[in-house]
Amino acid sequence: MKKLNVAVVGATGAVGKAMIRVLQERHFPVDELHALATPRSAGTKVEGYTVQSVEEFDFGRVTLALFAGGEVASSVYAPRANESGATVVDNSATYRMDPGVPLVVPEVNPHHLGSSKLVANPNCSTIQMVVALAPLHRAAGLKRVIVTTFQSVSGTGKDAIDELQAQAEAYGQGEPMPEARVYPRQIAFNLLPHIASFQSDGFTGEERKMMDETRKILDLPDLAITATCVRVPVFYAHSESVAAEFARPVSVEEARKLLSEAPGVVLMDDPGQGVYPTPLDAQHQDQTLVGRLRVDPSVANGLNFWVVADNLRKGAATNAVQIAEALLEQGKL
Ligand SMILES: NC(=O)c1ccc[n+]([C@@H]2O[C@H](COP(=O)([O-])OP(=O)(O)OC[C@H]3O[C@@H](n4cnc5c(N)ncnc54)[C@H](OP(=O)(O)O)[C@@H]3O)[C@@H](O)[C@H]2O)c1
Repeated sequence: MKKLNVAVVGATGAVGKAMIRVLQERHFPVDELHALATPRSAGTKVEGYTVQSVEEFDFGRVTLALFAGGEVASSVYAPRANESGATVVDNSATYRMDPGVPLVVPEVNPHHLGSSKLVANPNCSTIQMVVALAPLHRAAGLKRVIVTTFQSVSGTGKDAIDELQAQAEAYGQGEPMPEARVYPRQIAFNLLPHIASFQSDGFTGEERKMMDETRKILDLPDLAITATCVRVPVFYAHSESVAAEFARPVSVEEARKLLSEAPGVVLMDDPGQGVYPTPLDAQHQDQTLVGRLRVDPSVANGLNFWVVADNLRKGAATNAVQIAEALLEQGKL
């Protein structure tokens, strides 16, 4: 099989490190791997690779560049990578709502991958929700979604993981609580209904992303959808409570069958036996776990469920590598 030279931008970050691991685990055909980050990380090691400064890197050396360096890196270096001939899969929000840029979850809308050399990876919370919604939508026609998220601190990156750890340790040792730096308030033993900035309509940036991206991925520009996003003191994996309405009734039995056959989904739905997904079940693996299925008695054709996935893996790194695999399969790399 043809082997590719690959760059990972943001390789020292939470998502970038996961990308290197996922490329290895899934045996993606990598020839040379270039781990890139800011000049301050150049020369350090990550997952066995010596980090190079993105500023000096010649993207003409790679066929594929996976970006997880944040919005500034994506705005500045993704166009440079494209101009050098590399295909970019970008994890930031920079290009997601650009009508010319496909926004892809391979289990849901691989047909959106056209000839674009720039592909956007959706927001982590959106990815796991659409993996679960898509098979139900295909069968019964999605009309409305109300979602509430419970998002882990790794969704904010490496500094947030350190912040929760330091606060939890200080509490355990009876020491003064370290000052919150990454989050606006203490995150340990707390919940923050505040992910990204508040907008003039009262929603946060994260909530807006979930609403807009879901419509784009599912080709449902008029979908009624509302989101509340909450940061919780969990290290890895996001959880979501989803209330969905469809064009026709969907029984729990039918939903269980559809979800158990859906790619990327693992059904964990036997509440009487204590079987339902939690973040500890989902962390460090690639599946989207779904449980707590029940018919919503408050609306016509409503179904409620609970969905959990590892935000660094299916919510970011794994989805990006799956996009690269799809591009390879379609002969676009
Ligand atoms: N965390 C998630 O669950 C998740 C999910 C989906 C998408 N994303 C997106 O993925 C991206 C990375 O998130 P993260 O959680 O991995 O953050 P992180 O842990 O804070 O890591 C940030 C990475 O970006 C690098 N970086 C920062 N500014 C840069 C620049 N101007 N040029 C090149 N590299 C730069 C950092 O390098 P240094 O170490 O040298 O500073 C580091 O490698 C963000 O766009 C985020 O929105 C994250």
